[in-house]
Amino acid sequence: MNTKLLIDTAKKLFADDKGLLAMDESNPTCHKRFATLGIPQTMEARRAYRELIVTTPGLGECISGAILYDETIRQQKKDGAPFLKVLIDAGIIPGIKVDAGTEDLAAHPGEKITGGLDGLRDRLREYFQMGARFAKWRAVIAIGKDIPSRSCLEANAHALGRYAALCQETGLVPIVEPEVLMDGDHTLEVCRKVTEEVLRNVFMQLNCQRVLLEGMILKPNMVLPGLTCPTQNSVDEVADITIKSLLRTVPAAVPAIAFLSGGQSAELASARLNNMNLRFKPQLPWSLAFSFARAIQQPALDIWRGEESNVKAAQEALLHRARCNRAARRGEYTAATEKITR
Ligand code: 13P
Repeated sequence: MNTKLLIDTAKKLFADDKGLLAMDESNPTCHKRFATLGIPQTMEARRAYRELIVTTPGLGECISGAILYDETIRQQKKDGAPFLKVLIDAGIIPGIKVDAGTEDLAAHPGEKITGGLDGLRDRLREYFQMGARFAKWRAVIAIGKDIPSRSCLEANAHALGRYAALCQETGLVPIVEPEVLMDGDHTLEVCRKVTEEVLRNVFMQLNCQRVLLEGMILKPNMVLPGLTCPTQNSVDEVADITIKSLLRTVPAAVPAIAFLSGGQSAELASARLNNMNLRFKPQLPWSLAFSFARAIQQPALDIWRGEESNVKAAQEALLHRARCNRAARRGEYTAATEKITR
């Protein structure tokens, strides 16, 4: 294992208060988002949208790494320049989603298991050769009546451990993403209990599979009440409980925690990340950063709507969100930031 490379990459990804842009939506997910805006669900529309993202002027000021999808890592701009080169030239480290998505966990109604371990070693080697330096695998945990089950937590944690060890063998920093979903009417306290249980299982497996904690990144959910829970907690309460859960479960050797946004609005995701950094940063052993997809991209996608004439305005919206989140890493994001950086 090239320990030095892994540790260096993990450090570079979170230097200068930058963070990650997830642009690794699978084709079905990308099409779902396009469909709601009347954008054609074609390969060319996906390519054009990804070109808009990677060519955003100034993106490298706030974004250190971009998570690509198998289709995207092989694509080019209209003028033939590979996306990989465009990103590297902008100072952005390319990453790659390597899981094969989720499927139903047998005998466990309502629960999912992530696939993609078969043949993973060869795929990782190819991505490394292409220039990727980090990878991502997402496990999904739903909260509901009698779920998550112990077997779902163990099976998903085991897969994350196997994936992470394979990544490190290849020289790729693994982003370990166990996502507790926001769907449901569960309370903040229920999400806390489940999130802690998930993270305990994940770190048990990471240790068991001999994963180098200094050379990995954790990408968890923030601890939040369910979307339809009648009590929606304050930003302070969310920050308090998220920090408490992470301190209980994430070893200090992990260099950074980069949250997913999970369907929060762009502004709330920034405000919550900011609050955690503002109030807790000096006492945390790891950096607290972002690895958002929707909370960075959605305002830009809403503007673009598949129209060439909207590209510039969409890129400005994308850069704006990236800047807001960089400010949130510093605890400097305020309502005024929403206006200033535009
Ligand atoms: P969201 O920020 O939209 O949750 O996406 C992050 C991600 O990478 C999902 O796997």
